[in-house]
Amino acid sequence: MRSHYCGDLRKEHIGEEITLTGWVHRRRDHGGVIFLDVRDRQGIAQVVFDPEREESFAIANSVRSEFVIEVKGLVRHRPDGTVNSDMPTGEIEVLGLELNILNKAETPPFPLDDHQKVGEDVRLRHRYIDLRRPEMQEKLRFRSKVSNAIRNYLDDNGFLDIETPILNRATPEGARDFLVPSRTHEGAFFALPQSPQLFKQLLMVSGFDRYYQIAKCFRDEDLRADRQPEFTQIDIETSFMNEEEIMGMTETMIRKLFLELKGVDLGDFPRMPYSEAMQRFGSDKPDLRFAMELVDVADLMAEIEFKVFAGPAKDPKGRVAALKVPGGAKLTRKNIDDYTKFVSIYGAKGLAWIKVNEIEKGVEGLQSPIIKFLGNDVTMAIMERLGAENGDLVFFGADKEKIVSEALGALRIKVGEDLEMSQCEWAPLWVVDFPMFEETSDGGLTALHHPFTAPSCTAEELKADPLSALSRAYDMVLNGCELGGGSIRIHNQEMQAQVLEILGISDEEADDKFGFLLNALKYGAPPHGGLAFGLDRLIMLMTGTDSIREVIAFPKTQSASCMMTNAPGEVSAAQLRELNIKLRKTP
Ligand code: AMO
Ligand code: AMP
Repeated sequence: MRSHYCGDLRKEHIGEEITLTGWVHRRRDHGGVIFLDVRDRQGIAQVVFDPEREESFAIANSVRSEFVIEVKGLVRHRPDGTVNSDMPTGEIEVLGLELNILNKAETPPFPLDDHQKVGEDVRLRHRYIDLRRPEMQEKLRFRSKVSNAIRNYLDDNGFLDIETPILNRATPEGARDFLVPSRTHEGAFFALPQSPQLFKQLLMVSGFDRYYQIAKCFRDEDLRADRQPEFTQIDIETSFMNEEEIMGMTETMIRKLFLELKGVDLGDFPRMPYSEAMQRFGSDKPDLRFAMELVDVADLMAEIEFKVFAGPAKDPKGRVAALKVPGGAKLTRKNIDDYTKFVSIYGAKGLAWIKVNEIEKGVEGLQSPIIKFLGNDVTMAIMERLGAENGDLVFFGADKEKIVSEALGALRIKVGEDLEMSQCEWAPLWVVDFPMFEETSDGGLTALHHPFTAPSCTAEELKADPLSALSRAYDMVLNGCELGGGSIRIHNQEMQAQVLEILGISDEEADDKFGFLLNALKYGAPPHGGLAFGLDRLIMLMTGTDSIREVIAFPKTQSASCMMTNAPGEVSAAQLRELNIKLRKTP
């Protein structure tokens, strides 16, 4: 039907007779002539109908927004003074010769003009219309380009695209599984993959050497702006490559992607040990666009009377830290109250502060509700350690280490954004030297990455002091977002058994859950490792959107449902009976 896309028309087409197909974006009646803005996936072209061609004029007069039409016309210059330099097709217009309505449309539930602000629920309920908006078309087109570029890069580097199953046994990635009841095995369930982790390791045992897959993953976890229950990973695994080689190859991939698709040179990614990231930035995914850092002051606080600070200062699991905000003295009491509320989300019980007005006057030149508790000497020692200058504001956190790091770490980013303190647009890095394990609230241990990650010590050292052991894991972080993570895996069966034992998984349970992996490790498993990037997050960052839902064609809401199809939905009694499932009565 079509000879050209609307959005592709340019001045070189002037004089050509063309056929366009698309949607009526807007219809305007201008003193006797009718303008139709016709839209397709490439953009918008202006078509003019004049009353001299009676038949097409009458049809043009009858069409409404979102009608689907076919137009035959002649491309011509726009008259002087009507060229629109904001539009790629703004130099030309099409003189409409024939118009054919291919389908009518009811008035859409919201106008498609991109300046309109529409509630997300309305957009998601009618996603097929929302996706017509040029902005959404552009994001999905960009997404397609990214996955294509990634496939090309991995293909050029000898990676094979291999699919792994969706109906699985549970893989322990730390989130809750989505379960699928089996009809043929009464009382048994499949789990949807949280990631292809175990299968990609098995592919290494099979000798495939370099695997990748753009894989759907499923995790039933609490959702945030950068999480979906169903999301896409660029999943990679290699044999006979060490962490340097894996990080090098994937860093090159991301650098190339940014260069080719955004014209941005990310440069060499710095490396930072996990402990340093937590110490300086209160986060294992530090946002290095902001220069502010957390500074420990517990040693200065240990002897003071004020228990709120002295308690955590003396507690080996406590932390007392300060965050100096340059120029922050201009913040109002209301601002500080709002930040106090903000840190309470992370469990902080308060947010002490000192404003630095005239440091040359000593404590007289400071303003704060806590100087009276700290005493003059301690206050001035803190100011000196921080290198405080006039106009600064210093925030303090005192509590368990985790709470202080998380609260001040998050505050650092919030204040940095509010006061527009970012020093660059893109700040990538690798976080390395993660601990193998962390303590759970019930005193047990859990793997920081996953239980198949290799430690950087021997099995004996690991057993002797698991909490001090570091792993061979690495995360790629961009602008404070964890873009991807991976590790060198355990390829030795004894080491794997040791790690599972430390995690409190009995031989029986290990055999039941991952017997196939433990067995595979006995039959000549090569040294291997890999990583996975979150494709949705990558696109979110590259397109500058702040919600992962904006870059997924059909996303789920915060409560993990689909507004359009109403999934999840109830099923019939007959289906349940077939599956041998009886629902408990809700009380
Ligand atoms: P991990 O659990 O770190 O590692 O996941 C890898 C990357 O996937 C993205 N991601 C998500 N994106 C959107 N919504 C979610 N709910 C979500 N969860 C994770 C993140 C993250 O960095 N098998 C290992 C990888 C490996 O070791 O090779 C794994 O899945 O960007
Ligand atoms: P209070 O004596 O509880 O009024 O606290 C005095 C100041 O210390 C207030 O500014 C509180 O916000 C702050 N504060 C209280 N608890 C903490 C804490 N755990 N960490 C940091 N500041 C706190």
